[in-house]
Amino acid sequence: MYNVHPVPLKRIPELIKRMPKAELHIHIEGSLEPELIFKLAKKNNIAIPYDSVQALRAAYAFTNLQSFLDIYYAGASVLINEEDFYEMAYAYFLKAAQDHVVHAELFFDPQTHTIRGVPMQAIIEGLSRACQQAQQELGITSCLILCFLRHLDEDDAFKTLEEALPFRQHWVGVGLDSSEVGHPPEKFAKVFAKCKELGFKLVAHAGEEGPPEYIWSALDVLGVQRIDHGVQSINDPELIKRLRAQRIPLTVCPLSNLKLKVFEELSQHNAAKLLSYGLCVTLNSDDPAYFGGYINENFLQTFEALGLGAKEAYAFAHNSFEASFMSVAQKEKCFHDLKVCFESFVENDA
Ligand code: ADE
Ligand code: ZN
Repeated sequence: MYNVHPVPLKRIPELIKRMPKAELHIHIEGSLEPELIFKLAKKNNIAIPYDSVQALRAAYAFTNLQSFLDIYYAGASVLINEEDFYEMAYAYFLKAAQDHVVHAELFFDPQTHTIRGVPMQAIIEGLSRACQQAQQELGITSCLILCFLRHLDEDDAFKTLEEALPFRQHWVGVGLDSSEVGHPPEKFAKVFAKCKELGFKLVAHAGEEGPPEYIWSALDVLGVQRIDHGVQSINDPELIKRLRAQRIPLTVCPLSNLKLKVFEELSQHNAAKLLSYGLCVTLNSDDPAYFGGYINENFLQTFEALGLGAKEAYAFAHNSFEASFMSVAQKEKCFHDLKVCFESFVENDA
């Protein structure tokens, strides 16, 4: 492993902002800022029960995952046309570019939209157009991961898969999100087996609020390659051993965990502890429009709260490339660029 030179604490924020990174856990509907919600509501003639952007933002005071999901699905109801999905995703890429994200893997929740009569084609082609433009104009590579809503049944997931297959050239994998407790991964065993057979990448939210058992079953029953969140693994030493031995990535989202009360304080977050156990931990934003910040803000606040330095910054960024679905060649280029960034940073300090 590359020997990371120490960097003075006061320069850590600059290093974090400047280093190249990948984002692997972002729900694109969670990047919908209140301003864009109001703009699209007006355009599409959709009523929203708030008088202003400020009033909507003021409602973002959550007590747990479900209290957030209720407002998040209401916000997504303003998305109607292909252009709306494009505009939302491209707005995210502009923010990601400012944060030096060079690669992003975007979750989307088609059932939230198809249930309202939005065609699958509009959703996927709008998002995909933004991904293509991000590569051309911002140099950001990306891919799309279709998430099944776990509060709905497996038949609905199968129906969604069938509707999305005609557009399969635009998406690379499937995930599992929404209300976790009471909806264990095994509820979706058959649909994940089908997706595996079809050659899709597999990921799942597990151990955000739910117990370590959900992480075991995401791995052993669904066969996922990454765990989204996974912070509850800390309570199961055997699971920690497994995650370390197989280098199964965890896509951790500190500000999300703080806002949804998984941890009372950021200083209690276990991202650094999990990293110190030798796990492939990455830092991500989850739903940045709702949780108070994009990926760099997640890094900056976590590093400050936990007193982390250059070594951890390098490890999180390196892990983000390692854990991504990029090609081996693309990963090698990212590892190289990351090293160059760190070396030039230390030289400038001398
Ligand atoms: N959908 C959007 N954000 C989510 C989260 N943090 N957990 C589960 N489902 C989600
Ligand atoms: Zn998530």
